Amino acid sequence: MGDTASDRAEGDRVREAVRERYASAANAVTGRGVAAESVLPTTDTSTSCCGGESATASSCCSPAAPADVSRDLYSVAEMSELPPAAVLASLGCGNPTALAELKPGEVVLDLGSGGGIDVLLSARRVGPTGFAYGVDMTDEMLELAARNAAQAQATNVKFLKGTIEEVPLPAESVDIVISNCVINLSADKGSVLREAFRVLRPGGRFAVSDVVVRGELPDDVRRSTELWVGCLAGALEEDTYRGLLADAGFEGVDLEVTRDYTAEDAGLVAGAAGERALSAVHDGGGRVVSAFIRARKPPAR
Ligand SMILES: C[S@@+](CC[C@H](N)C(=O)[O-])C[C@H]1O[C@@H](n2cnc3c(N)ncnc32)[C@H](O)[C@@H]1O
Repeated sequence: MGDTASDRAEGDRVREAVRERYASAANAVTGRGVAAESVLPTTDTSTSCCGGESATASSCCSPAAPADVSRDLYSVAEMSELPPAAVLASLGCGNPTALAELKPGEVVLDLGSGGGIDVLLSARRVGPTGFAYGVDMTDEMLELAARNAAQAQATNVKFLKGTIEEVPLPAESVDIVISNCVINLSADKGSVLREAFRVLRPGGRFAVSDVVVRGELPDDVRRSTELWVGCLAGALEEDTYRGLLADAGFEGVDLEVTRDYTAEDAGLVAGAAGERALSAVHDGGGRVVSAFIRARKPPAR
């Protein structure tokens, strides 16, 4: 989207739709009275970020198959160390904490932290000398994340209310920016990437899971609010993603595909519209994938 008054109005409308969708997702988890055994991976297929009942309740972000997502994304060991509601609220499309090579003492920022799963995992990895921030704009998600942090007895975390287009942290205050299936939801991705660059210290890392398009999304898919809040319509085309990161000042951009979505995957999350959208992308020779995207802020000279 551009920078005219009507572009801004459209951006506000999309953001409000996203906020409503993820408020419902948080409420669906909060209202369920979750028991640990209901989210740990046994033979239960409701274990995933997009899983079973939670997907139905929340219309999860990731266009992925419900039965295997959290098992793909998070290890049993990771899930068992988290409050059940943090696992159940997971709406990501990757596991940035597993790939980000976090070190003790580092400061991490999670853009769009949702129920807090990646903040809590990061906090454990960076240890008591490190710190993990989450930023989210949705009150219901922030409340859920705070509850999960209290239950996990995590003292080196803080959830901040704000937008990822205007991050409420000072410049050069974090070592690593992570995010899980959120940047595609923004109507102003250039601002998000410039903000990630601003808050990183020189030499800091960008390590993000996101949905990415290889090829073209049909115009009617791009215009669908339903498919936008479901993490499909707003997904950046791969070269555009690389270009926006470079424009923001990042170097060493690397994009690794972690999952290639089928039309059936999209149908499970976004219903018939999602399935049709993915089929149209495939018919045009394109793909919709989850990717792990790495980049670095140049070190101080
Ligand atoms: C798909 S969920 C992912 C949550 C979390 N990263 C995870 O993996 O479970 C998207 C989250 O990003 C938040 N979000 C979306 N757009 C945002 C924006 N522009 N600014 C701040 N938060 C945003 C939503 O409120 C929601 O909690």
